[in-house]
Amino acid sequence: MRGKSFEVTPYEVKGEVDYGKLIKKFGVSKLNDKLLRRIERHTDDLHLFLRRKVFFAHRDLNWILDEYEKGNKFFLYTGRASTKGSKVHLGHLMPWIMCKWLQDKFGAEVWFQFPDEEKFLYKNEVTLEDTKKATYEDMLDVIALGFDSKKTHSLVDTKHAGLMFPQAIKVAKKITFSTIKSSFGFNDTNNIGSIFYTAMQAVPAFLPSVLKKKKIPCLIPLGIDQDTHFRISRDVLPKIGYYKPAILHSVFLPPLTGVGGKMSSSDDSKAILTTDSPAEVRKKINKYAFSGGQHSVEEHRKKGGNPDVDVSFQYLKMFFEPDDEKLKKIYNDYKSGKMLTSELKNILIEKINVFLNQHQKKRKLAEKRIDEFLYK
Ligand code: TYM
Repeated sequence: MRGKSFEVTPYEVKGEVDYGKLIKKFGVSKLNDKLLRRIERHTDDLHLFLRRKVFFAHRDLNWILDEYEKGNKFFLYTGRASTKGSKVHLGHLMPWIMCKWLQDKFGAEVWFQFPDEEKFLYKNEVTLEDTKKATYEDMLDVIALGFDSKKTHSLVDTKHAGLMFPQAIKVAKKITFSTIKSSFGFNDTNNIGSIFYTAMQAVPAFLPSVLKKKKIPCLIPLGIDQDTHFRISRDVLPKIGYYKPAILHSVFLPPLTGVGGKMSSSDDSKAILTTDSPAEVRKKINKYAFSGGQHSVEEHRKKGGNPDVDVSFQYLKMFFEPDDEKLKKIYNDYKSGKMLTSELKNILIEKINVFLNQHQKKRKLAEKRIDEFLYK
């Protein structure tokens, strides 16, 4: 999507995203309280990502629940396109954590795609060896989140090409070059691999239906930048005999440097990586996390801070402080000037380091479990 002050495509997120405008431009629906109550009837509680509307929009979620209530279970699908090096950051984890929670609550199968050709095709400096190596690293992060190996299947595009390609060409036949150009802002200079790629990303949304020879509803949790691929896929899938996938969209975890754009691993100053050490986390937050505080302690005590633009507060709200009462107190104390920026940053640093300490231990254990998750 191209707007005046911001841009959201799978390949670029720029500027301060106006999510209200994005809902209209993309034609998605807002996740309202009525729908949240409907989900809660099946799940007993709501994950903080839903309660706080970090996942804020959807396509056809009511239909998914209609089918579920009729006994027609859905499967979940999401993915990760690895790049050079081990670069998973906290923002990437959000759709995956959502997926894991939905798997637990609805007993759903998860199909996880690792398109190891995607970043190879889009980035000149990235080789296929880089993405293959990084795919292995990134799988560790996914497994570390606790997915049920009996119900989770990883697809690696170059490895599962024989399975996926015959399905991808069915999709590709229904997509014109002009649709790809207008949807992604491509022109005649883009390589033909990247023009084809959307067809590969569509495949896991209906592959389980192909394999089980019956139409199975699919729900895709993702960051809203990925919606473009599925806007196209949703047009195509009914034409080749499958359901349109339903989508659950998340806002972006902002970069450390401010509330505009998205956390992105292309720049060290912008992201906390899952492999960062406690000292790196401390350094990055102290050095880069955009603060809503005043210039001096005296001024801060007098005027108070602005938690609404403060990145540390946003991370607590969106990810790291599930307790509503505690969050409210932090908000009020920071706003009144009782809490200083350094104190707020320390709360966040501590929370992230506790989380990463656990995550990194589970990531290490995952090294022996990759095979369990690969689709066979
Ligand atoms: P990738 O590897 O760029 O990102 C993986 C997932 O992380 C989301 N994401 C974020 N979410 C919140 N805040 C952020 N700052 C942030 N940065 C990234 C992305 O939206 C994505 O959901 N083409 C895909 C890989 C893929 C895929 C899929 C993703 C293949 N099949 C199905 C979602 C669903 C990609 O490049 O994702």
